[in-house]
Formats: sequence, structure tokens, C-alpha cells
Amino acid sequence: MAEIVLKNISKIYDKGQRAVSDFSLHIHDGEFIVFVGPSGCGKSTTLRMIAGLEEISEGELWIGDELCNYAEPGERDLSMVFQNYALYPQMSVYDNMAFSLSVRKVPKDQIARRVDKAAEMLDIKHLLNRRPGQLSGGQKQRVAIGSAIMREPRAFLMDEPLSNLDAKLRTHMRVELAALHQKLGATMIYVTHDQTEAMTLADRIVVMKEGRIQQVASPAELYSRPTNLFVAGFIGSPAMNFVRGTVEEGEQSIVFRSRNGLCLPLTFDQAAGLWPRCKGREVVLGVRPEDILPTQAANRVLGRMDGRLTACEGLGHETILHLETADGEFAARVKERTGARAGDAASLWVDMEKAHFFDGETEQNLFYQWSDCE
Ligand SMILES: Nc1ncnc2c1ncn2[C@@H]1O[C@H](COP(=O)(O)OP(=O)(O)OP(=O)(O)O)[C@@H](O)[C@H]1O
Ligand SMILES: [Mg+2]
Repeated sequence: MAEIVLKNISKIYDKGQRAVSDFSLHIHDGEFIVFVGPSGCGKSTTLRMIAGLEEISEGELWIGDELCNYAEPGERDLSMVFQNYALYPQMSVYDNMAFSLSVRKVPKDQIARRVDKAAEMLDIKHLLNRRPGQLSGGQKQRVAIGSAIMREPRAFLMDEPLSNLDAKLRTHMRVELAALHQKLGATMIYVTHDQTEAMTLADRIVVMKEGRIQQVASPAELYSRPTNLFVAGFIGSPAMNFVRGTVEEGEQSIVFRSRNGLCLPLTFDQAAGLWPRCKGREVVLGVRPEDILPTQAANRVLGRMDGRLTACEGLGHETILHLETADGEFAARVKERTGARAGDAASLWVDMEKAHFFDGETEQNLFYQWSDCE
């Protein structure tokens, strides 16, 4: 197993298009790193540069203590699992898993032991004599992961490995992957579109946008302290609610006032941090759906929002209320059973202590700045 260090790595494709810019990351031995970001932001390109499938245009890639920019993929000793996993259709599951060891002339009894161990771990022992065509999607997926772990590589690179599976199997495989990571203690770099996968599997998440790292942090940190508007809106589902406005002196306290009449009191700390620093500047207030309450609560600084419910999505254990206001629509996640129905006039309460504030122009968090100096 190994550390992987990317230093100021960029990828410029033939026509001068920058797919990845100045990407620096120190991945620790045994760490589970997840790349997330919108389609086209450079996740696969970065992974492929680490794997050696794509040339690095600028910067340095270190695996262990070797500079690997020019190492052949085979020399890097990494295993990759892609979205469309490559299994040899004419070979049995056993031979597929044994393949990488057979070509390296590893003794047969040793191969048998390792296939057995991996098959046990992935619960595919009963499938070893089948061919890939006789397997379900999830079984194929496990065989692909099995083939990858056979080699005991220095790190695993996985590009949306679960994206072809149905919801139930995905959850199952997610849990298995977490267990596998625990068991092997392997370094993992994992690309996904799935928020739940990112939040549950990652030691640290790398959020990317247009080829650049926005923030690298643990799931909890990313959720509670997003460095900018993009990260705040990208992490969390339903997404954080945003409203633009200004910080002003109200009758009793410093308040956040939106263009269309929302007036929310700031907490003491928020007021101290934003007034008069943000006087006259546009500010974006962000509030997560679970921080909008259906009723007033004691000992909280609350801001009232009036509007009309456009939808109430009951999910069994919680309800998502959509409140249409003069300042746009807000989603609130409430635990209580409410008798609320679409069309009702309603007031909801913003728990101001949980509110986030961003600069309207730079879109940076006004209270917290992530920096990549680890
Ligand atoms: N071979 C190529 N030649 C030119 N441009 C490319 C090539 N491969 C990818 N790109 C471009 O590089 C950018 C990053 O692509 P990449 O595949 O890394 O995105 P991604 O984050 O993996 O997206 P997705 O989530 O859709 O898989 C995109 O704008 C893409 O069009
Ligand atoms: Mg991709």
C-alpha cells in the first residue's frame, strides 16, 4: 500500500482544452478518497492520469517514493475498476480472477489460495465455474472487484463502479466496499455521482468544478463548513436553500434582509462577524432543509418565512415541505408528521444559528475559508 501525492497536476488536451488545472492532493496510505463534481469536471481524467492511461501535461505524480509521471500503467502497481467492468467473456469467473496472477507466472496453488480468499470475501465462491454471461450485473461487479483485489496492488482506482446497479444492489455493494476497505486497509480513490456513496465511504471528499479542486475535507466538515456557494449547493440533498440580500441594522438587531421582504435576525456572532464588514454588499444566506423548522422552538434565534406550500413529500420517516415565498422556493425537511397539504398558507422558521453566509460576488463563505495547505 502506498501514499499517492499529486503536485500541481494539469491536463491539457490536444486542442488546448484544460480538463484539469493545478490539482494538488496528498492521499495518505490506506485512505479512502472520493472525487465528486458535475459531469465533465475532470474526475475521470484525474483518475486516468494516476493510472497512467492519460499523459500528465504538467505537475508531478508520486506513488510511494517514486516519481511516476512516465511509468507505464503496469509498473504503477494499481488496480482499476471502471463503470463498464472488463471481464473476459470466454473465461470462467475463476480464470478471470486468476488472470493477472497467471500472466505473472505465480504458482498455481498460490493462485488458488488467493482466488479462494477473495471469493470468500465477496461471497462469489459458488460462481467460480460460471462464465460472465451467466452472471447478474451485481455478480459481475463483484467479480470485477475480485479481479482487482487479487493482485494486492498499492492502491485501487474506481470510476463509478456501482453505477450500473439497481438501488438495492448498490446499497449492498456500498456496504461491502466499506467492509473490503476496512479488511484490506488499502488506499482507494473512488469516483462517484452518488452523494450517499461519497458521504458514507469517504475519509475525505474532493469536490471538483471545471477541472479545479474546490475543497477537500471529511464528509462532516464539507457538510457543515462548505468553503463556497458551489460546495454548499453540491453537497446535500435536497440541496441547501439560498437567498440573496443584504445585512442591515434592524429595529432590535442586525438583520439579513432579502429583496422581497424576508427579514431574518442574525445571531450575536453573525452580527459581530458581518456588521459593518458587509455593509452595502450583497450577501447570500444559505440554510439546509433540516434547519428550517415547522414550529417555533425555545432558546433559538429564529427567522420567520411566510408563503404557500407547493408540495409536501411524505417519505415515511420525514416530510419535505416546499414553501413558495416572494423570495423563491424553500425546501424544509421535517420529522414531525404535519397535517400540511399543498396549497396551504404556511409559516416556517429558519434556525439562524445554522445559517451559512456567502459573499454575493466572490461566492466565498464569509466565516470560513478552506485552504489546501495541509
Ligand atoms: N480524450 C479527450 N480529448 C479531449 N477532451 C477530453 C477527452 N477526454 C475528456 N475530455 C474533456 O475533459 C473534460 C473532463 O472530462 P472527464 O471525463 O474527466 O469528466 P468527468 O468529471 O469524469 O465527467 P463524468 O462525470 O461525466 O464522467 C471534459 O470537458 C471532457 O469533454
Ligand atoms: Mg467520468
